[in-house]
Amino acid sequence: MIREANILIIDDEKDQAEAIAESLRNIGYKCTTVMNGSEGLNIIRKDRIDVVITDLIMHEIDGMEILKETKEKSPESEVILITGYGTVENAVTAMQKGASTYLLKPINIKQLRAVVDKVVEKQNLVRSNIELHKQLEEKFGFAGIIGNSQQMHRIFNILKQISSTTATVLIVGESGTGKELIASAIHYNGSRKNNPFVALNSAAISESLLESELFGHEKGAFTGALYQRKGKFEYANNGTLFLDEIGDMPLSTQVKLLRVIDDGRITRVGSNESIKIDVRIVAATNKDLGELVKDGIFREDLYFRFNVICLRLPPLRERQDDIFLLTDVFIQEFSKKHSKNIKGITPETRKILFRYSWPGNIRELKNCIESMIVIGQNDFLDINDIPEHIYKNNKTALPGPVFPVGLPLDEMEKEVIKNTLAYAGGNRGETAKILGIGERTLYRKLDKYGLK
Ligand SMILES: Nc1ncnc2c1ncn2[C@@H]1O[C@H](COP(=O)(O)OP(=O)(O)OP(=O)(O)O)[C@@H](O)[C@H]1O
Ligand SMILES: [Mg+2]
Repeated sequence: MIREANILIIDDEKDQAEAIAESLRNIGYKCTTVMNGSEGLNIIRKDRIDVVITDLIMHEIDGMEILKETKEKSPESEVILITGYGTVENAVTAMQKGASTYLLKPINIKQLRAVVDKVVEKQNLVRSNIELHKQLEEKFGFAGIIGNSQQMHRIFNILKQISSTTATVLIVGESGTGKELIASAIHYNGSRKNNPFVALNSAAISESLLESELFGHEKGAFTGALYQRKGKFEYANNGTLFLDEIGDMPLSTQVKLLRVIDDGRITRVGSNESIKIDVRIVAATNKDLGELVKDGIFREDLYFRFNVICLRLPPLRERQDDIFLLTDVFIQEFSKKHSKNIKGITPETRKILFRYSWPGNIRELKNCIESMIVIGQNDFLDINDIPEHIYKNNKTALPGPVFPVGLPLDEMEKEVIKNTLAYAGGNRGETAKILGIGERTLYRKLDKYGLK
């Protein structure tokens, strides 16, 4: 095992401290020893210490205090306590407060080494997992949102910029494109993350109840209002209110919502008093609000308030290379969830999923993979596992990815190669053939665009 750890030993019995340090140095660890708690704290405060081994009972600053400060400064650091028989109980309390374990005096060298090895190994594992997670996230997404297409990278960039603000955001996209997922990512990556995230779906609530859901009501405000009740705005105070299916909100409620946005105050139904609130609004719709405004179904002034920042989530058929990545991520996720040992998907099967148009977008793909995992019998998902309607419709002509005007030709070439490679199930020979270029040219381009 790798014995790269900085260990600090704090013990007022000099011989014991030296003996511990010596036996750990002999197997490769870096050790520092000090004879009292305050010297120990000085080092903990200024250096990076991976493991602290401290005597529990010491004059002035004792092991408990060392434990507390160490964990405050860096929760990842491990603390091992040394204790006599008389104080085992205190050591157990210390473990509840975050100590890794304790060692009984007199110290047994073999046991000491085993305990330190175990603690360091665990620490390395935790660190490498955090690191791995961070890398995956940097490479493929943002806060659990998976995507590697150019369109999604653009969205991740906007998300990073807007999460820290409190600006109103409008999310537009077809059903299943991830509107709710993005709304919660905006909340949980921003400064309001420790306050509530509250969602309300305008389409799911009758017109008569919607206002009371939003603003709350007083006892007796209407027939059936037996108690006073807080509305979603009040619950979301200092946090974020997610207004889903905003295009389905009736005009009368839109008027009141506009007033709340402008005044920063709400009035419960049946009350005369207004209450000050501080709520960030994130709204979503799968409709074209601009069209609804033209048709007189949505208020233009409210549309302008929402449209400060607009995120358009592209349908899956316009970012086909994400089908590739999402399929792999979902296979992993559901294989684990259903305790199956499915390792991947055959190239033929992947091709069919790629050619399908996914009208239900990511939700549909996710459900499809889950059902394939559940029925899959082999190590790799194959054609027989594909739901019938997807198999039958996979030859639908696809509109293909959308290239915005002004996109550099290099970028376009990269996208085309990426998509074709995905279409060919990763087979480079076939990709070259479809693109009408030699394999060597393809290799060079893969290298150039970092697609290898
Ligand atoms: N980029 C993504 N990466 C991973 N999972 C995603 C992604 N986008 C969506 N999903 C998953 O797909 C499912 C549907 O997403 P979500 O509910 O956010 O869609 P929606 O746009 O709100 O749909 P609807 O309009 O039908 O309400 C969820 O399970 C969500 O976790
Ligand atoms: Mg939704």
